[in-house]
Amino acid sequence: MSRWTGRWPTDGIAFGADYNPEQWPREVWAEDVSLMQEAGVNLVSLGIFSWGQLEPEEGRFEFDWLDEILDLLHGAGIGVDLATPSAAPPVWLHLQHPEMLPVDADGLRFTHGSRESWCVSSPVIRHHATRIARVLAERYGHHPAVKMWHVSNELACHNGRCYCDVSAAAFRDWLGKQYADVDALNLAWGTAFWGQRYTSFEQILPPRRTTTIPNPGQRLDFERFSSDAFVAHLEAEAAVLREVTPHLPVTTNYMVMGDFHQIDYQATTPLVDIVSNDHYLWAENPRGWAELAFSADRVRGLSGGRPWLLMEHSTSAVNWQPRNLAKEPGQMLRNSLQHVARGSDGVLFFQWRQSRAGAEKYHSGMVPHAGRDSDVFRSVTELGAVLGRLAEVRGSVVPRSRVALLWDTAAWWASDLEAHPSVDVQYLDVARDLHGALLDAGVAVDVLPASAALDGYDVVLVPTLYLAPSDLSDRLSGVVSRGGQVLVTYFSGIVDQADRVILGGYPGAFRDLLGVRVEEFAPLPADGVVSLSDGSVGTVWSERLVATGAEVLATFADGPSAGRPGLTRRSVEGGGGAWYLSTRLDGPSVAALLDRVLSDAGVEPVVPSPGGLEVVRRSSDTGSWLFAINHTGTDLPLRASGTDLVRGASHSSGDRVPARGVVVLRED
Ligand code: GAL
Repeated sequence: MSRWTGRWPTDGIAFGADYNPEQWPREVWAEDVSLMQEAGVNLVSLGIFSWGQLEPEEGRFEFDWLDEILDLLHGAGIGVDLATPSAAPPVWLHLQHPEMLPVDADGLRFTHGSRESWCVSSPVIRHHATRIARVLAERYGHHPAVKMWHVSNELACHNGRCYCDVSAAAFRDWLGKQYADVDALNLAWGTAFWGQRYTSFEQILPPRRTTTIPNPGQRLDFERFSSDAFVAHLEAEAAVLREVTPHLPVTTNYMVMGDFHQIDYQATTPLVDIVSNDHYLWAENPRGWAELAFSADRVRGLSGGRPWLLMEHSTSAVNWQPRNLAKEPGQMLRNSLQHVARGSDGVLFFQWRQSRAGAEKYHSGMVPHAGRDSDVFRSVTELGAVLGRLAEVRGSVVPRSRVALLWDTAAWWASDLEAHPSVDVQYLDVARDLHGALLDAGVAVDVLPASAALDGYDVVLVPTLYLAPSDLSDRLSGVVSRGGQVLVTYFSGIVDQADRVILGGYPGAFRDLLGVRVEEFAPLPADGVVSLSDGSVGTVWSERLVATGAEVLATFADGPSAGRPGLTRRSVEGGGGAWYLSTRLDGPSVAALLDRVLSDAGVEPVVPSPGGLEVVRRSSDTGSWLFAINHTGTDLPLRASGTDLVRGASHSSGDRVPARGVVVLRED
C-alpha cells in the first residue's frame, strides 16, 4: 500500500455512484443533484467514459459542461471522485491510430465502437492517456469538489490480453529482462519437449492460436507480462496525477469478483492510496451472498486490513447475465451492508441514473427509468439514511482474525493452463468451500495474498495452491512450529515458478512440511464420489498417497485410491499440526474438518450464531460495531447487546434479527 495518510474523501460512509451527466440534457442535472441530496449521496465518480465529450477533436476541449456540473455538485456538498477517461478513448484517436486496437489470439483486430479498445502495450494509448490525465489534473485538481482520482476503469476488464505485433515486441523485451539468455528461457519453458527450442528472443511470439496445446511456460509468462503491462499503465497515469495534485488520493476500481483474474492486484496495491472494488452478484446463485463475503474479504486482504471502498455494485438487476434477476426487496441493503461489515467505508453504485440509451440501458441505477416514484429510489433513500446513521463506523477496521486463507494470482493462472489432470479442479473452488464453511460457522477469516506475512495466525488454510511462492513452505513451517494449524489441500505446491513439476513425489513444495508423498494423482470421473473412513465424502479428486511422517486420520474407503490416506496430520511438538487433504470434500464434511482444525487451535466464532446469520465485527479505539445480516426467511436471535443503528433501537442479547433484515449494533 502507498503511505498516503490523507483524509477519507467523505466525512461519513461514502454513498453515491458513477454519475454520467453527459448522457442527459442539462435540465436533468438540477433534478439529479436535488435527488442526490434527498438520498444522502455524498460522493460521485465523474467522467469515467467522457473523453469523447471532453476532447471531441485532438487538442480541442469542451470543458464547459464539466465545469458546470462540478460547481453544481460542490454547491450541493457532494464530493467528486474524478476519473481519467482512458477506459474509453475518443473515436478520432482510434481512427488516427488503428494499430492501438487490440488483437485476439486468432489474429483478429477489434474495432472501435465499444470501450477499452486498446492494447495496453501501445505507446499511443500510454501517451494520450497520460496527456489527458495531465490536462484534467491541471484544470480540476484544485476544484474544491474533487476529493480523489479514479484511474481509468476496471483495468483489463475487456482488453486484458492482446496478441498484436506491438505486444509481441513488448513481450520479448519483458522476457529479455526475466531470463539471462535464451537458453535459460528454453530450460524454464521446457522447449526440449516437441522441439520448441528457440535460438534467439526474436523468434518468440505471444501465445497465439496453435494447432494443439501451447507451451505452458510461454502461456504463464504471457499472463505475467500482460498483468505487469497494466500495472505499468496504472503507474504511468497515477504518476501524472501525483505530480500535479499530490494532495489527492488515487484509486482504481478492482474487479475482485467471480472469476476475473487478468491482473495480479497485489502488484498494484503500492500504487493506490485507497483500494476500491466493484462487485456484481451472479443473480442466479442462491449463495451469492457468500460469494460477496468472499470477495469483500479478499479486497480487505489486498488493502492490508485498512478500510477500502466499494466503488460499484448494483441497486437491482445488471444487464449482462443470461437472466438479469431484479434484487428482492431488502437485498440491496443487505448486500451493501455486507461490504461495509467487511471493511468498506463506502457504498457506491453503477450508476446514478439508469441510462436511456446505449449498451447498458437495462442495467439498474439509483434512479430507475420509472423515476423518483419507485421502490428502487425509495430503497436507495432508505439505504442513504441508514448509512448516515453508520457514519461513526468509518475508519474502524475488521479486527485481524486468527485464521488466514491464502490465494495467489500466479497460482490461478498456472492452475488454468491446458492439459491438467482434471477439468474439475477449478482454482477457487476449494477456497470458496473453506470460506463458505467458515462463514456458516461464524468464524472470521483474513483472505490474504500468499506472499503475506503469517505471523500471528494460528490457522492457515492453503487451498489448491498449485504454484506456491518459493518461501511459503518455510513460512507455513513457522506457523506449525509455534503451535499453529496449517491445512493444505490437493494440487498444491506441485510446480516451480516456471510451471515445471517439482520431482520426487507430489506435493514437492510441501512434502516435508506435511509428511506425505503422493505417487500418482487419481482424479474422479465426472460426478464421481468417494467415501472416507471417517464418514466424510469426497468428490473431484483422490491420490495414491503414502504418509511418510504424518498420522493417517482417514483413508479412502472406495474409489481409485481405496485404502490410501485421504486426510493426514503431521503433529509437531507444542501442538502444531500440518494437515493434508487429498480430495474435495462435500459441504458437511468440510464443516466437520474445519471444526477439528479450529478446535485444535481454539478458534471461536465472532458470536455463536445460527446458520444464515452473517455476523461480522468492526472496531476502533472508540468502540465496536457488530453487523448481523440475516440471509434467511426466519427471524434469528443475535446474542449480543447494544444499540441497533439501523432501527435506532436498543437490542438485548437474544433479540431477533428480522428475516432478511440487518442489525448493526453499537456494542455496549
Ligand atoms: C462494470 C463497469 C461499469 C458498468 C458495470 C455494469 O464492470 O465498470 O462501467 O459497465 O460494470 O455492471
